[in-house]
Amino acid sequence: MINLHSAIALAAVFLSMANAAATPTSSYLPQSSPTYLPKFPAQAGVITQWPPADPSAPLPSGALPSSVPGSIVSQTEYPPANLPVANAETDPNIIPIMKLIDWNYVPNATVTYPTPVSSGLSPSMDPSYPADDPYCWWTYNQCDTPKISYIPPDITICPEPDTWGLTYDDGPLYFTTPTPENAVYAEPNFYDFLLNHNNQKANLFYIASKILYAPVAAQRGLNDGHTICVHTWSHFSMTTLTNAQVVAEFYYSLRMIKQVLGITPKCWRPPYGDVDDRVRAIAWQMGLRTIVWDQDTDDWQIIGDQVAPTASSITYATANKTMAGYVANGQGGPHGHITLEHELSNATIILAESWLPTIQKLYKTMPATACNNIAQPYWEESFVYDIQGTVAVSTNGSTVGGGSSTTGSPAGSTPSISGKNSGANLQAMGSIMTLVAAAVLAALL
Ligand SMILES: *[C@@H]1O[C@H](CO)[C@@H](O)[C@H](O)[C@H]1NC(C)=O
Ligand SMILES: *[C@@H]1O[C@H](CO)[C@@H](O)[C@H](O)[C@H]1NC(C)=O
Ligand SMILES: *[C@@H]1O[C@H](CO)[C@@H](O)[C@H](O)[C@H]1NC(C)=O
Ligand SMILES: *[C@@H]1O[C@H](CO)[C@@H](O)[C@H](O)[C@H]1NC(C)=O
Ligand SMILES: [Zn+2]
Repeated sequence: MINLHSAIALAAVFLSMANAAATPTSSYLPQSSPTYLPKFPAQAGVITQWPPADPSAPLPSGALPSSVPGSIVSQTEYPPANLPVANAETDPNIIPIMKLIDWNYVPNATVTYPTPVSSGLSPSMDPSYPADDPYCWWTYNQCDTPKISYIPPDITICPEPDTWGLTYDDGPLYFTTPTPENAVYAEPNFYDFLLNHNNQKANLFYIASKILYAPVAAQRGLNDGHTICVHTWSHFSMTTLTNAQVVAEFYYSLRMIKQVLGITPKCWRPPYGDVDDRVRAIAWQMGLRTIVWDQDTDDWQIIGDQVAPTASSITYATANKTMAGYVANGQGGPHGHITLEHELSNATIILAESWLPTIQKLYKTMPATACNNIAQPYWEESFVYDIQGTVAVSTNGSTVGGGSSTTGSPAGSTPSISGKNSGANLQAMGSIMTLVAAAVLAALL
């Protein structure tokens, strides 16, 4: 038996351990702000600090301009969308960065290098990869703690129990062929929804080449107070790219985000989770910490508008059941969770919106960066975010957990919770399927 006082003291120790694990210490290779990005003029109407200087400034709303490359960013300054950068080795933007990186701290992993993988053969099928996983290849066995001591572990969970880290990948969502049916799901649909549900904040992992086509939606995401992270330029499997191509993925992502949003994120997520110590080490030296997840809703595999059927497509009902399992079974336990969702199709938006009110009732809900105590996720220090999150409200109306933010109000639809944890192990299922399907998807984006 331990009394309440020592229980609290013990909890504090665990909490500080968890926070220490989430915060890079001096034992890691020093990081610095990228110096190689051009100086861009500030964009009209885009916030330059958080909290914003003028909280009453109107947000862009209604149908946001999309498919207008050139209006905000010139396409000619960027490589073609949805493809790894061709000739990265001789790209004059990339050569100086290759010289800045200390390659003594970048392991010579040869996972499936040098064959870029966006579809077809999964890198996890590489028969020559050693079983002892020398490069901490996530795709091989979900390894998230590097085998090299100078790079921190990936962020995979929220340390505090009953906490839900909200992450939405692959945005900003726009439709290349808008129809009356799908146009309603383009941004700012989901950003409006979050605003109208306790002004909920989330991590948005943007595919940088999509920002070219939906720059105002991206600006809206930042202005709303969401934490923007890098989700690469082309959305290929990073471990299959050459060193120069990996550098180029990060460079053009950081550049696009700096030009359109005025910020330089310190966080990134590998497409399909496909990362190894080589890619982690390059990311780290370019100022980026790797964030993955511990709950995968598989929502991106639902056939939806702009997401064509593949061999591993799933139905909406399957993803819905996976989500129901996470929501029902994620409370208690030693820690909270980071959940992988997407702003990718009508189906992912419908799933996200139908569950958020329930999640807010049961969990302390916040961006994955916030639950990991990261208040300053950009190199620009004028942005300081709330790390308390939206406080969950139990079904009887009392608050659950601490926090200083507005109390949640149970608005919107409230799916009932039932069923066992049908989906909890899906995230651990062979990433072969994941990669193949996701890769096919990438080719479509
Ligand atoms: C990788 O290989 C190069 C060339 O053989 C070598 O100079 C470098 O030290 C190696 N890097 C690491 C981290 O082992
Ligand atoms: C999603 O799951 C919830 C909870 O199990 C259920 O009430 C709802 O009907 C499901 N929706 C669909 C479309 O399957
Ligand atoms: C998404 O849109 C497609 C095409 O319009 C439609 O067939 C599908 O039922 C929609 N999905 C959901 C979950 O509503
Ligand atoms: C409401 O739920 C909380 C958390 O489960 C519990 O501590 C509290 O006693 C409940 N209050 C009422 C009035 O039932
Ligand atoms: Zn993605």
